[in-house]
Amino acid sequence: MTCDRNPDIPMLRGPVPLSHLFIRRFIREGDRVVDATCGNGNDTLLLAELVGSGGRVWAFDIQQQAISRTSARLSQAGLDDRVETVLAGHEAMAEHVAGAVSLVVFNLGYLPGGLRIVITRPETSLAGLMQSLEILKPGGILLVTVYPGHDGAAGEQQVVESWTAGLDQRFFHAWRMGQTNANPTAPYLLLVQKAV
Ligand SMILES: C[S@@+](CC[C@H](N)C(=O)[O-])C[C@H]1O[C@@H](n2cnc3c(N)ncnc32)[C@H](O)[C@@H]1O
Repeated sequence: MTCDRNPDIPMLRGPVPLSHLFIRRFIREGDRVVDATCGNGNDTLLLAELVGSGGRVWAFDIQQQAISRTSARLSQAGLDDRVETVLAGHEAMAEHVAGAVSLVVFNLGYLPGGLRIVITRPETSLAGLMQSLEILKPGGILLVTVYPGHDGAAGEQQVVESWTAGLDQRFFHAWRMGQTNANPTAPYLLLVQKAV
């Protein structure tokens, strides 16, 4: 998301554009990365562009609708050659992703424009997050956008937050970034870097 008047200036309207700043700063051409909740494909498209033709992106979602939307957008952009879409939960990440990755991104909650009853859940999110740290290479980052506002979000928020807060500082740098001049239920960003 950029400024309408000057497309070179990123506009930080919420945690997703903030996560995209980190994505742009940390990804190099040729990298291997994961979109753990591809949804409408916004993050997957950015990842596919940044890793280049020599890179690899794994994009997970449990809904066929999300996988179809993401695949259509990728082929429209000519970026489908480097992306493996996976119709499975991110709790099965380690089974599908081969080798170490430099970045994993999660966008919790429900599919915008889709069914609001299909949401990410505490147990499966936690399993996917734990596997992410296993497959991250040193210096790599995990980004998680948390949406506290919807039904069923509170339990997941609590589980995810206490998990990041308990990570050993010797091995991980964990951050929480929220907008101070927003509603208390506004979404925010968690970032975990694996120490080198
Ligand atoms: C907020 S949306 C993601 C938005 C997406 N990042 C985008 O750019 O459009 C959350 C997505 O998580 C998916 N989801 C729910 N549980 C999941 C799971 N266990 N594994 C993978 N995806 C899951 C939902 O189907 C939904 O599409």
